[in-house]
Amino acid sequence: MCGIVAYIGEKQAYPILIKGLQRLEYRGYDSAGVALLNGQLNIYKCKGKVSDLKAHVNGTVKEGTLGMGHTRWATHGAPNDINAHPHLSESKNLAIIHNGIIENYASLKEALIQRGFSFKTETDTEVLINLIEDIKQKEQVDLEHAVRIALNQVVGAYAIVVMSKDNPDTLIAAKKSSPLVIGIGQDEYFLASDATPIIEYTKNVVYLEDEEMAIITRGEDIVMKTIQNQPVTPYIEELQMNLEALEKGGYDHFMLKEIFEQPQSIYDSLRGRMSSKEGTILLGGIKDYVQKFVAAKRIIFIACGTSWHSGLVAEYLFEDLARIPVEVEYASEFRYRNPVLYEDDIVIAISQSGETADTLAALELAKSKGATVIGICNVVGSTIARKTDAGCYTHAGPEIGVASTKAFTAQLAVLSLMALHIAQARGSITESRYRGFLTALAQIPKKVEEVLQQNDAIKAIAEKYKDAKNCLYLGRGYNFPVALEGALKFKEITYVHAEGYPAAEMKHGPIALIDEQMPVVVIATNESAYEKIVSNIQEVKARKGNIIAIVTEGDTQIKAIADFTIEIPHTIEELTPILSVVPLQLLAYHVAVMLGCHVDQPRNLAKSVTVE
Ligand code: M6R
Repeated sequence: MCGIVAYIGEKQAYPILIKGLQRLEYRGYDSAGVALLNGQLNIYKCKGKVSDLKAHVNGTVKEGTLGMGHTRWATHGAPNDINAHPHLSESKNLAIIHNGIIENYASLKEALIQRGFSFKTETDTEVLINLIEDIKQKEQVDLEHAVRIALNQVVGAYAIVVMSKDNPDTLIAAKKSSPLVIGIGQDEYFLASDATPIIEYTKNVVYLEDEEMAIITRGEDIVMKTIQNQPVTPYIEELQMNLEALEKGGYDHFMLKEIFEQPQSIYDSLRGRMSSKEGTILLGGIKDYVQKFVAAKRIIFIACGTSWHSGLVAEYLFEDLARIPVEVEYASEFRYRNPVLYEDDIVIAISQSGETADTLAALELAKSKGATVIGICNVVGSTIARKTDAGCYTHAGPEIGVASTKAFTAQLAVLSLMALHIAQARGSITESRYRGFLTALAQIPKKVEEVLQQNDAIKAIAEKYKDAKNCLYLGRGYNFPVALEGALKFKEITYVHAEGYPAAEMKHGPIALIDEQMPVVVIATNESAYEKIVSNIQEVKARKGNIIAIVTEGDTQIKAIADFTIEIPHTIEELTPILSVVPLQLLAYHVAVMLGCHVDQPRNLAKSVTVE
């Protein structure tokens, strides 16, 4: 969380920083600020969004060809003007922006207070910049040395950029467990939490690794070192992203655009990896690991949030098709549970951002125990993608809306293909089921398009239920995780309580909640448990609950008893989650818009959760 951006070159930094902060705002949006060096070290910052910062700065001098900006997701200290970054050192000569958490900040702060430092903010970041200043003065070293010594004293996570009034041509950057990328332009450099603020100016980037520092001096080549002072040769990569993918393209919100992009993003996730005509699958990223899968006794999925729901669907897929026992773990629980892990375990980390701190820590734990670690990430070059032994990207394109939509369906598409591939390699699937699955998968993008055509009808249903105070989502089998995902989508953007449950579990408790006020969304597309889900619907109706049912086209039985039905095209049961989740995304979206919620940046959330 928190977005950081910096610029050094010949252009005015302010417009570049503001634009960069707007692109990074999905990472955190409770306050924002910029620092500009122009003889003076000027800081402008305030509570609120980047638009508030622009209004706050309006009318003041904003000159400087070296500067940095920050958009915050508060960890230490309330989101207010004072705690907003950048932070100045005691002498006001140094400034810092920081993404991460300095875990030993309290003891460092205490020691600095003893040495005469005073603190204006509640942040751990102000401690770090004063530590750097103290070292610089005490040890009589230059800024680079002082930063390096300080970073060897801190415990925790950081991506930082430091600037000094006395070094008007230099930015110092470093990272550990929080991402940082350098953009290399013509006589200019950019720094950012991800490549989105950079793509407009250059495609050449260097991703910093943990405990690496970069000393970026105007007109000179980048110098990189580890914080142990070992030289590092910058590895320059070319970005594959395009700028249009980062714009709203005529939609009111990124979330709506991303929901509508799903036919394409699913297609892109499958493209070049399968041929339903030939009956072939090629997953280049895991090709050297297929034999490990064949021999695997167990697969463990680790993930958080929506990605965890993908893991649950994958549990059905891998057990059903490949006959490998599967466990699905919340990364945050797994990492602290002293789990039993074996060297022949395969641990699969699923993450849209590839930066989620809990998922990263869980995969590092699995790696340390000798397990094979595979990644399913959307962001190319992200930390999880780089730390895993092998993996498959989802190729959904940049997802900006905080509520994950197209990343989820892309994950399901890739996981389906992977499970099918492994099933074939293990000989656990018949040729006709294998072929039928591939054919059905190839048709999915077109079928998602058909679901999207019902947007207006779904909006009309949203209108009916927009004042609900609680919602229950029910599903069985492959669609139980979809019930969880539908409820998560609803609560995170509408702020209305919603709960997902396995349909048959309802009678063990949640049924007590049902009355005429209670909308119950039932995913009723399963062929295998159709009669059972009809019974669950009857149980809700008997208690006067309102049913919104997601059914397969042509369904008449549920249509006759539900209050509203939304049809999805027929597909094989294993692939229904990719279709059935789409109406639930739209339902949440429309209710959130009707309630006046900030759809793309819901309160208290951030897109990339890089703190635990
Ligand atoms: O980037 P990741 O997939 O690792 O993120 C995991 C969760 O933080 C994320 O899915 C979160 O739950 C979303 N807000 C859901 O819409």
